[in-house]
Amino acid sequence: MKPRCRFLLPCKNTPILCVPFPKPSNFSFRYTKLSNFHFSTHNFNVNSYSPRFTGFKPIFNQPQKPYSANIPNWACNSTNKSRYVVASLASNVKNYSTSVETRVNDKNFERIYVQGGLNVKPVVVDKIDLDENVVKNENDVRNEGLNGREESEVEKEAWRLLRNAVVSYCGSPVGTLAANDPNDKLPLNYDQVFIRDFVPSAFAFLLKGEGEIVRNFLLHTLQLQSWEKTVDCYSPGQGLMPASFKVRIVGLDDNKFEEVLDPDFGESAIGRVAPVDSGLWWIILLRAYVKLTGDHALQERVDVQTGIKLILNLCLSDGFDMFPSLLVTDGSCMIDRRMGIHGHPLEIQALFYSALRCSREMLASDDGSKKLLRAITNRLSALSFHIREYYWVDLKKINEIYRYETEEYSTEATNKFNIYPEQIPDWLMHWIPEEGGYLIGNLQPAHMDFRFFTLGNLWSIVSSLGTPKQNESILNLIEAKWDDLIGQMPLKICFPALEAEEWRITTGSDPKNTPWSYHNGGSWPTLLWQFTLACMKMGRTDLAKKAIDLAEKRLHADQWPEYYDTRNGKFIGKQSRLYQTWSIAGFLTSKMLLENPEMASVLYWDEDYDLLENCVCTLSNSTRKKCSRRLAKSQILI
Ligand code: GLC
Repeated sequence: MKPRCRFLLPCKNTPILCVPFPKPSNFSFRYTKLSNFHFSTHNFNVNSYSPRFTGFKPIFNQPQKPYSANIPNWACNSTNKSRYVVASLASNVKNYSTSVETRVNDKNFERIYVQGGLNVKPVVVDKIDLDENVVKNENDVRNEGLNGREESEVEKEAWRLLRNAVVSYCGSPVGTLAANDPNDKLPLNYDQVFIRDFVPSAFAFLLKGEGEIVRNFLLHTLQLQSWEKTVDCYSPGQGLMPASFKVRIVGLDDNKFEEVLDPDFGESAIGRVAPVDSGLWWIILLRAYVKLTGDHALQERVDVQTGIKLILNLCLSDGFDMFPSLLVTDGSCMIDRRMGIHGHPLEIQALFYSALRCSREMLASDDGSKKLLRAITNRLSALSFHIREYYWVDLKKINEIYRYETEEYSTEATNKFNIYPEQIPDWLMHWIPEEGGYLIGNLQPAHMDFRFFTLGNLWSIVSSLGTPKQNESILNLIEAKWDDLIGQMPLKICFPALEAEEWRITTGSDPKNTPWSYHNGGSWPTLLWQFTLACMKMGRTDLAKKAIDLAEKRLHADQWPEYYDTRNGKFIGKQSRLYQTWSIAGFLTSKMLLENPEMASVLYWDEDYDLLENCVCTLSNSTRKKCSRRLAKSQILI
């Protein structure tokens, strides 16, 4: 018996899965070789890609059911059934723009976000001359292709494995499994499509000229976003993107089956962690997709614009916060277990910053989004100032903290967060090099988490959250501390590991996060692509090449592990999955980025001087000083 995909409309009319793929002539390809983008479903041999979900013929012409009847409101009953999303219905709802409009129209939207929002009026100042790099003439960008080079055997294997990990839904590719080890009898949730894990896969496909899977992924996850979800008796905010989803085969009464998308918003996840990073990654990926394919029509769709706004709604809503950084619970990002990263972890701030920059570019600038766009700009300015000023440490800054006075009560305090110098860990005093510096992991009242978190630092470089000088210094530090941060396998997820009592208290004695394992100082090959992008942006491809060479030698021989253990990444991780998709995709993406510098250049951001002006003037107003550009330059903003 073959399962069916429940569709309300015949497939050819179904806007999501069967969108007429843009003809090359309608497409404004900006890169000479981007014409190798394939948008035809024929490109994907579903049977060979997705062993678990193959060969299912959609059965159409199902009678249409009302939206509300689809998922019963189970109140406190969290049976599996209440969690299922029948994608066809979701598509249907999302694609009738009227229903979307009723749910969130622009007026409501402004009321939600902007009312009473940021207490800051942008001050008009003269323009600072733009750096030549800031405004790129996108028409000049060229895709140099793969230089006609034949792929190595390792790359060929990686492509085969990546394609084998592709998950199909109703006959179309929609994502990649987190891991695809045929010998793994207990995959837990590694047989799902994780939003964050799919990003490097998406980049690999996009750089290869295959946009369809990314487009499907973006649109399907968008439908999941709108779904009603509950954790016990509580409904998390509208706009939340799931951590992952699974394509399930569900039996129907009449001995038939159907495919459904079953999202996990954290309600099944170990520790019930909130996937805060999912929505941010979704926005970042959307922009990358549009930039690399030229498919602007996707970002202009009402449902896509609404999706962006809903994510921002969650991020920009007022709370009790005193800081512009996003306040989250522990484990809300790649490190999705208790690791002492609750509060304002750097990784979330860096992703938040780039998602805001992406949204600023992508939101239609009409009357309805004017206020939102202003709120985004204000938040960007405040956030970059906050991180640049308070998260940055180098030898000089650590020495300043070492000599801090405490208990200062005034708006002019030097030690604003009341950091006791005794907090500076012993390892840091010895470890910090003469050259270089980094952004600390977290900042809270009377608390600085001095651990080096790789993703947050790399993404601060990529998004220009850090100043150009800071960005350069971060790479200098990585170079100076190569053995600690790269060692035998790039890259350490964080440094150093929590040990002994600190491990017991901070992780809750987590046996998976023992010192120098997994999230607690393990080495994660997937971080290679972010490192490559950061190095390319800063003109340090030498570092990226060195790291890629290291990875290429081992990854394939070790069966593409998820992570490595020990201080310098010598051993395959204790509980590491094999054939981990984002290790494979991270490697491929790194290789392709290096060979396509022009394509890479549209995936990172340069300094935005408008944001700096905005920040400096806001700052000057709040300290009742005169707004001056000289002041801006004298501060650490540039
Ligand atoms: C682990 C990682 C998480 C990843 C997931 C699937 O839980 O911590 O970042 O998304 O595995 O690979």
